[in-house]
Amino acid sequence: MPTDKIIVFDTTLRDGEQAAGTRLGAREKLEIAAQLARLGVDIIEAGFPISSPEDFQAVQLIASQITGPVICGLTRAIKKDIDAAGKALAKAKKSRIHTGIGVSDIHIAGKFKDEKYGKTLKAKKDKTIEMGTKAIKWALEYTNDVEFYCEDSGRADRDFLYQIVEAVIAAGAKTINIPDTTGYAIPEQFGKLIADLIANVPNSNKAIFSMHCHDDLGMSVANSLAGVKNGARQVEGTINGIGERAGNASIEEIVMALHTRKDFFNLKTNINTKEFYRTSRMVADFLGMPVPANKAVVGANAFAHSSGIHVDGFLKERQTYEIMKAEDVGSPKSEVVLTARTGRAGLKHRLKELGFTLTKEELDQLYEKFLVVADKKTEVFDEDLMALITDEIRTVERYFELEYLHVACGTGTLPTASVKIKTAGKKNVSTAAACGDGPIDAAYQAIREAIKLSPKLESYAIKAVTGGKKALGEATVKIVDETNTRFTGRGVSTDIIEASAKAYVDAINRMVATKLK
Ligand code: KIV
Ligand code: ZN
Repeated sequence: MPTDKIIVFDTTLRDGEQAAGTRLGAREKLEIAAQLARLGVDIIEAGFPISSPEDFQAVQLIASQITGPVICGLTRAIKKDIDAAGKALAKAKKSRIHTGIGVSDIHIAGKFKDEKYGKTLKAKKDKTIEMGTKAIKWALEYTNDVEFYCEDSGRADRDFLYQIVEAVIAAGAKTINIPDTTGYAIPEQFGKLIADLIANVPNSNKAIFSMHCHDDLGMSVANSLAGVKNGARQVEGTINGIGERAGNASIEEIVMALHTRKDFFNLKTNINTKEFYRTSRMVADFLGMPVPANKAVVGANAFAHSSGIHVDGFLKERQTYEIMKAEDVGSPKSEVVLTARTGRAGLKHRLKELGFTLTKEELDQLYEKFLVVADKKTEVFDEDLMALITDEIRTVERYFELEYLHVACGTGTLPTASVKIKTAGKKNVSTAAACGDGPIDAAYQAIREAIKLSPKLESYAIKAVTGGKKALGEATVKIVDETNTRFTGRGVSTDIIEASAKAYVDAINRMVATKLK
């Protein structure tokens, strides 16, 4: 008999980070993991340890420092993957290995073309079961908490799915993940699949079924909830719904649906929903993927009422147009305002309240930046602080540093920029000047000339972090190198041209850091 508790499995740091053009450093991942722990997720999928030495180290770091949630690592059904995950997770208080294999005919026939997997589809399917059960056995050598994913369950042959699920439960898997890898499922049909699995797999009562849905057709949250309604007791997703292609199911949406519609689901989670807004903002900032204003639960307009009829109704009785309260998801009413007189201790205190624990060195550096902003802006809001922190703890090596920027522009003048760029390990500073179509274009031209690199600028966005004319500007740029790999850079400043130049240099630093590895 399923319980009334829904286990929340967060994969922001694994599936989320797979989103095109995003790469997090270990320090940023650790900070997000700490925030996810505060949010109250039950499981943090910290990465895919075999995929790169950086991912291995990040999983190791999170496993050794974050307590509370179970720390999980992803693997394929391959021994060396499982050994890497086992090692990366060794220091975790509670660890899980998440292993699995493609189970749809499309995956089996497409991935296991080689005859060593069998000559016929039937033989390849038998081999798939064998590989899956062996993987469970290897994973059990590291932890007794093993989850098995049946990749592309949404398009799998039903009888084969029953067979492999039965076999991996018998082999010791405690959680069975039924991913809709390609976002193909329809809620009614996917819910029924879970009900059918529970009814038809003889040992289904020995495992928890998990939903892992992608958003290609915009139905990931609906599919996840349909699964839950039919007996799944774990949901997987990401903050802000980031992830492969159109993304994963958004955790804040699933959880708020469960909480707001308790009358319908009658289920609970361990989530402290008041941490949603802060978590969302941190993930958006670190990944350089802004949250659309109309995004459910955490978008800037999610609780904004503008049309006359709505505002009138809302002011008379909140419930007329609101089904959740902004406070319930921690949406900010930025009451705390810091000024240049706040002092280091005050800043440290506020940072702690916001959930950040910086090293002394980081705090010192942040304080310098805080003073510059406080002098210019007079008042520094929580959102400004978050933007500055993101800047501070981005762990990418600063190979190039913007030392000086001067831009001249105006009606009837040709925008020109001059820059001085310091290169790590070199004494001399490179200088360059250039003209452009506008001030930012001129600055980018000058930077390219100074550093002798010309990555293609794919996108550029600037936004005000807070309201008012003294707001901090936050620029996000995406550049593409010659292999078509994308790098995201971010910069903040009260001067938007400086923020834009910093973002460009940050993206270039990320590109260079990858090449130097
Ligand atoms: O979407 C998917 O199938 C996955 C698995 C690796 C769990 O991300
Ligand atoms: Zn996925």
